[in-house]
Amino acid sequence: MEGNTQLIFFCNGKKIVDDNVDPEMTLLTYLRIRLRLTGSKLGCGEGGCGACTVMVSSYNPITKQIRHMSVNACLAPICSVHMMAVTTVEGIGNTKDGLHPVQERIAKAHGSQCGFCTPGIVMSMYTLLRNNHQPTMTDIEDTFQGNLCRCTGYRPILEGYRTFTKDTPTAGCGMNGTAGGCCQNGSSQPRSMNGTTGGCCQNGSSQPRGCCKDLKIEQNDDDHKIKGISSTLFKPGTFKPYDPTMEIIFPPELILTLEKVEPTFLKFTNERQTWLRPVSLKQLLESKSQYPDSKLIVGNTEVGIEMKFKRMEYPVIISCSDVPELNTLLADNNGIVIGSSVTLSTLAHFLKQQLKKLPEYKCRTFAAIIEMLHWFAGNQIRNVAAIGGNIITGSPISDLNPILMAAKSTLTVISTEGNSRQLCMDKNFFTGYRKNAILPNEVLVSIHVPFTEETEYFMAYKQAHRRDDDIAIVNAAFRVKMASSVVEDCSMAFGGMAPTTKLALQAMKFIRKRNWDNLLLEDVSSQLADEMYLPPGVPGGMAEYRQSLVLSFFFKFHQYVSQHIIPTNNHIIPPVLSETSATSSISRPEAKSTQMFQETHDDQATFENVGHPIVHKSAYKQVTGEAIYIDDMLPFKNELHMALVYSTKAHAKIISVDPSEALLMDGVCTYIDHRDVPGSNITGPVLQDEEVFVTELVTCVGQIIGAIVADTQYIAQRAAKKVHIEYKELVPIITIEDAIDKQSFLAEPKSITNGSITKGFDQSDHVFEGEMRMGEQEHFYLETNACVVVPGEDQGIEIFSSTQNPSLTQWLAANVLGLQNHVVSCRVKRIGGGFGGKETRSLLLSSAVAVAANKVGQPVRCVLDRDEDMASMGTRHAFLGRYKVGFTNDGKIQALDIDMYSNCGNSMDLSFSVMERALFHMDNTYKIPNIKGTGYLCKTNIPSNTAFRGFGGPQGMMIAENWISDIARLCSISQRKVREINMYNEEDITFFNQKLVDFNLKRCWNECLENSDYENRRKEIEHYNKTNRWKKRGIFAIPTKFGIAFTATFMNQSGALVLVYKDGSVLLTHGGVEMGQGLHTKMIQVASQTLGIPTQKIYINETSTATVPNTSPSAASATSDLNGMAIKNACKTILDRLKPYVTEKPKASWEDWIKAAYFDRVSLSATGFYMTPDIGYDWDTNTGTPFNYFTFGAAVSEVEIDCLTGDHVVLRTDIVMDVGDSINPAIDIGQIEGGFIQGYGLFTLEEHRWSPSGQLLTKGPGFYKIPGFTDIPVEFNVSLLAGVPNKRAVCSSKAIGEPPLFLASSVFYAIKEAVCSARQHAGIEGVFRMDSPATAERIRMACADRITEKFPSAEPGTFKPFFVRA
Ligand SMILES: Cc1cc2nc3c(=O)[nH]c(=O)nc-3n(C[C@H](O)[C@H](O)[C@H](O)COP(=O)(O)OP(=O)(O)OC[C@H]3O[C@@H](n4cnc5c(N)ncnc54)[C@H](O)[C@@H]3O)c2cc1C
Ligand code: FES
Ligand code: FES
Repeated sequence: MEGNTQLIFFCNGKKIVDDNVDPEMTLLTYLRIRLRLTGSKLGCGEGGCGACTVMVSSYNPITKQIRHMSVNACLAPICSVHMMAVTTVEGIGNTKDGLHPVQERIAKAHGSQCGFCTPGIVMSMYTLLRNNHQPTMTDIEDTFQGNLCRCTGYRPILEGYRTFTKDTPTAGCGMNGTAGGCCQNGSSQPRSMNGTTGGCCQNGSSQPRGCCKDLKIEQNDDDHKIKGISSTLFKPGTFKPYDPTMEIIFPPELILTLEKVEPTFLKFTNERQTWLRPVSLKQLLESKSQYPDSKLIVGNTEVGIEMKFKRMEYPVIISCSDVPELNTLLADNNGIVIGSSVTLSTLAHFLKQQLKKLPEYKCRTFAAIIEMLHWFAGNQIRNVAAIGGNIITGSPISDLNPILMAAKSTLTVISTEGNSRQLCMDKNFFTGYRKNAILPNEVLVSIHVPFTEETEYFMAYKQAHRRDDDIAIVNAAFRVKMASSVVEDCSMAFGGMAPTTKLALQAMKFIRKRNWDNLLLEDVSSQLADEMYLPPGVPGGMAEYRQSLVLSFFFKFHQYVSQHIIPTNNHIIPPVLSETSATSSISRPEAKSTQMFQETHDDQATFENVGHPIVHKSAYKQVTGEAIYIDDMLPFKNELHMALVYSTKAHAKIISVDPSEALLMDGVCTYIDHRDVPGSNITGPVLQDEEVFVTELVTCVGQIIGAIVADTQYIAQRAAKKVHIEYKELVPIITIEDAIDKQSFLAEPKSITNGSITKGFDQSDHVFEGEMRMGEQEHFYLETNACVVVPGEDQGIEIFSSTQNPSLTQWLAANVLGLQNHVVSCRVKRIGGGFGGKETRSLLLSSAVAVAANKVGQPVRCVLDRDEDMASMGTRHAFLGRYKVGFTNDGKIQALDIDMYSNCGNSMDLSFSVMERALFHMDNTYKIPNIKGTGYLCKTNIPSNTAFRGFGGPQGMMIAENWISDIARLCSISQRKVREINMYNEEDITFFNQKLVDFNLKRCWNECLENSDYENRRKEIEHYNKTNRWKKRGIFAIPTKFGIAFTATFMNQSGALVLVYKDGSVLLTHGGVEMGQGLHTKMIQVASQTLGIPTQKIYINETSTATVPNTSPSAASATSDLNGMAIKNACKTILDRLKPYVTEKPKASWEDWIKAAYFDRVSLSATGFYMTPDIGYDWDTNTGTPFNYFTFGAAVSEVEIDCLTGDHVVLRTDIVMDVGDSINPAIDIGQIEGGFIQGYGLFTLEEHRWSPSGQLLTKGPGFYKIPGFTDIPVEFNVSLLAGVPNKRAVCSSKAIGEPPLFLASSVFYAIKEAVCSARQHAGIEGVFRMDSPATAERIRMACADRITEKFPSAEPGTFKPFFVRA
């Protein structure tokens, strides 16, 4: 069939006509490469992060309606936007003509740190506003279900956008997150808190958003004089008003054309793929008949993934989106008919309308679908994905199929010959894994879902790793039709329990004619346990948990039905009150927060410099998409692309490598491997124990064996997959336990001792031995590792890299090319998050690209896909702690003997230093008179693990908090008390013999307990737990002390270069990398303060080894401390030189002094250098001072858990943190909140799973879950300790990047408290082991009860596990 071959769409108001469109291209690639609109980012390529979000608008000529939808451009085929309007972040505002309010508010509310996620978040919010000018906070939270941010902790984004809601507080301070209201009294009353027309209950002010806490108050706190406490990080009053009438309109030309011209059949072709778009069922059937092997698509959310990640090839694609017969939506006498191409958003909207129109009882299935759709992916996916796509994909964990099956839905299909037939979605429909009874020549037309009857009850359940935007572990749908108290008919369908969605046929039969009572519950549970049996080692793993969920869901349904039929049936005994908590779902009220900080002293307020919460200097560029990351750089002339050839075996000898098939492909330039390395192929950041390109032996999956260089990234990646490698496999070691068994270590154990543990144990009343495991953590920076290398003169090269470590990038690239350092330079403008993951592992990539650029003599770019990055770049080290602790009856610690094992992976990287820091933090905040800690570095066959925020500290402290919690339980004293009696005091000496001075921990601790009303809430929780059997709450307080300095002493140095130009403007360069942490902003504030000029006169362009040499990586939280001092020193040099001019004309301006100095031929550039004084530690003698100082903090968190599913919600977190005199409170609070939420992911959510043969199973956001918007504490209060200047760092500040992360363990231990209460309810007392993270699986299985006892764990070694934890 012939068709129109011209693609037409509008992008940001501009018409795009493409006569030769490549049908394989996604919208994102088209935008970024063809249109050079690089604002939309590639974060994952699989619809899981939202960084690529754009708005796609369409016009319906029949209804005359315009529909705006957020879409993942990374999955949307370019062909799918024909005759539509695409709006990208560039289209709504820019720094030249003005920001859009959506851009301005996220920037000014400090909601953009590294900025890589920001354009996607901006576009999600923008689309929401285009559809709903005054959304509620719930609308906003829902709109962000498909967006991730790794930096901010989400709170500032939500607060910035709260200003768009109709209930934005215009009175009171509004700080409690409700409409008006007050931070102090927790009231949710809107407005008029002081009885007047606005203002605050505390101060009688009637100023809108005025807050008593903003008053410049003098507080006296013992010795501390504290000036003004503020709670205002941004001023909504300064925001540009939002005027929906000013938005860009839908292109009138498109409206005219769509109204005049009937849609036509489209056909787009390249040499590999043809893309067809029929516009009638007839055309669809003809196309299918012509191309029997064609692939139908609607949203492409399944097929797109298959093509990109599973490398499936579909030569003919037929889009069914515009076939009217497949877009039907109507109600008939028996139910509703849903066209197979109806998208999930449209379906939800339609069902909500039915709920309003029809009697409640008819819509019970629809209510279940609406609820399920809320948990189904994010908006961007739901806007394009169709119901038909979900059914046909036939995923065993499809969220809709269990509901459709339990509802007894029927499907109408039609064959290419035009024969129509109906199929019941019953036991015969799914015929195998992703297979169904629809014939290859048939097309799904529609789905019929019947109404429920008055005595029919329907519920669906889903449990996933994360609440929002996650696929199910197990889901279920239950329908029961009652005749009085007797079951007349019943369906039970389960997902995640078999290769297909599965009906529990035996249980369904068994339940009929039975009385709905507790006996039925017991009998059906036993029946389900048999019918849904999973063997240990079942695909997907978690056999016991999944089986428990089946019974837990049925228990919930049983309770639900009982509660509903009791009023009409007096034969049934009502459930005990506390049991009713089984049916309520964990709800998340609207989020609220406060942020408190000390206002800057008046004498510092000349400019918005040190102490002010000024906005991140790149924020405006980030929110408009103008900020340039590596892959946004314009291509260099003759630039080529590189794709890596990775090892696919964990431990194997390479027998042969054959790139010949790849080299035959059009556009492939060359293959690179170790033979192309002109210098040394041996590399490594500390020890030289790695190869850039593997020569003979691979020691993990994801090691670089070679690389393909080609004209485009797409060709290079396809070709790289065609390089054939033959291996001889060897036995791999994956887990810590494996390594211990096989004594596989990278080095001798590292040990530290103080006192005598023998004596300590002798003096103890009790000695207890325990064990804890803490999982690894993926960095999940939103920008993957990327690098461009440009060859230059004298064999030199220029490297543009997304690295935290420019100097080491330079040194190692020089080493690999056999060059001197001075002809190699590394430049970094900004990076899209690092968190330690780009401190050393990025160097392998940049060295490999350097070899390629050297070989081809042309610029070479390599940007890793998310799955490649995750499979090759290493993670935070998993730890195992085995401890023996001695203590007195009253809980005082006498001795600790601890062995810590870290999973280092296949090379040393930074593992040695990570273990050192873990050992330094094994006391957390407790004085242990006799201590011995030993660290073992396990060598395994997984990618080398590396630095990650906290650098071993969190692992050491986590194990400390575990044994001290055990002590509290064993001594029956409170968790608070055991911590307080063992906590260090001022001037105490740590076990590494460092004296604790300015020990502000106790102030943090006490303020935090007080602010959080800890004791009262603990009592309330006790009461709550007594009256609720299946929901439990827990509250927990955690202190932290984090040592600041690189433990390798030589790294505590830094340099800066200050250039002052003739006009008085200043260009600043220093050794630190801006990765979102606001470093450059703080450094500009330091320079502004020192030079006495406004921050606007100071600019930082990039970090470059060509301007500041021999820098340390941006790591160890110390970057501001080190570089800030170097900058200060350089600025002082400039000031010294200016002194004569200032003395001569003290009233003149900065510009005048500079001009005078220039004409007097005074140098206006200066370098600055700094080395941290008085630090250095000797491990052999346990003497010296490892840390410059400590950062302190405390947190209290409260959680609620669902004991039946393992779900949880963080109800409230209060943090008090000592950051010294904050250089920028907005940035510091951003680090605290972002660090806390990252720690929350570490301790509760994030988990890598490995196949026993060493393949990473959790690649990409689809399987690896970082916290999302609705995972943050419902109430999140952060305050910075006031009046605590730190004399050991720049501007009296303290380092803050890493220390807050550990405070998130308060959530873990609060969960453990809640679990403890559940166990007590089941009659189980005493200490129990719970490893980190506290995933839903771990929580559920720890809440042992009559369900879990049916599924005891199989003995390890008796089966082959589906996955292992490293
Ligand atoms: C980030 C992300 C999150 C997700 N979250 C969830 C989730 O929470 N729950 C869940 O269940 N799924 C989830 N999915 C899976 C997927 O989105 C759904 O299965 C979706 O409904 C597929 O619809 P689609 O229109 O995009 O399908 P497509 O990819 O377009 O097509 C899927 C399959 O359906 C076939 N097909 C489509 N229409 C017809 C027709 N009329 N006749 C015959 N065959 C047809 C296609 O040939 C193809 O085999 C997620 C996917 C992504 C990428
Ligand atoms: S890049 Fe599209 S969702 Fe992540
Ligand atoms: S600011 Fe969101 S990922 Fe960095």
